[in-house]
Amino acid sequence: MSEQDWVLAEYIVIKALENGVTIMGLTRGKDTKFHHTEKLDRGEVMIAQFTEHTSAIKVRGKAEILTKHGRLRTDE
Ligand code: TRP
Repeated sequence: MSEQDWVLAEYIVIKALENGVTIMGLTRGKDTKFHHTEKLDRGEVMIAQFTEHTSAIKVRGKAEILTKHGRLRTDE
């Protein structure tokens, strides 16, 4: 994948089902660190991609997550 192909990568959707849902981005590569935190309030939606900087995310709080793998909720 060339650097520009990140632009075309899959999007995921995270919808907050309560206030204060936190999405944390973890760095790609051998160091695994949190590099970004985003807070969503109830009803807010984040549409996001994984990039060369972010290979994993952690979602804290009640949320619905849609990816190509399906739909899941953090509390199920
Ligand atoms: N730095 C790790 C990596 O690029 C980040 C990561 C990917 C990760 N998948 C994970 C961390 C699963 C914890 C669990 O591989």
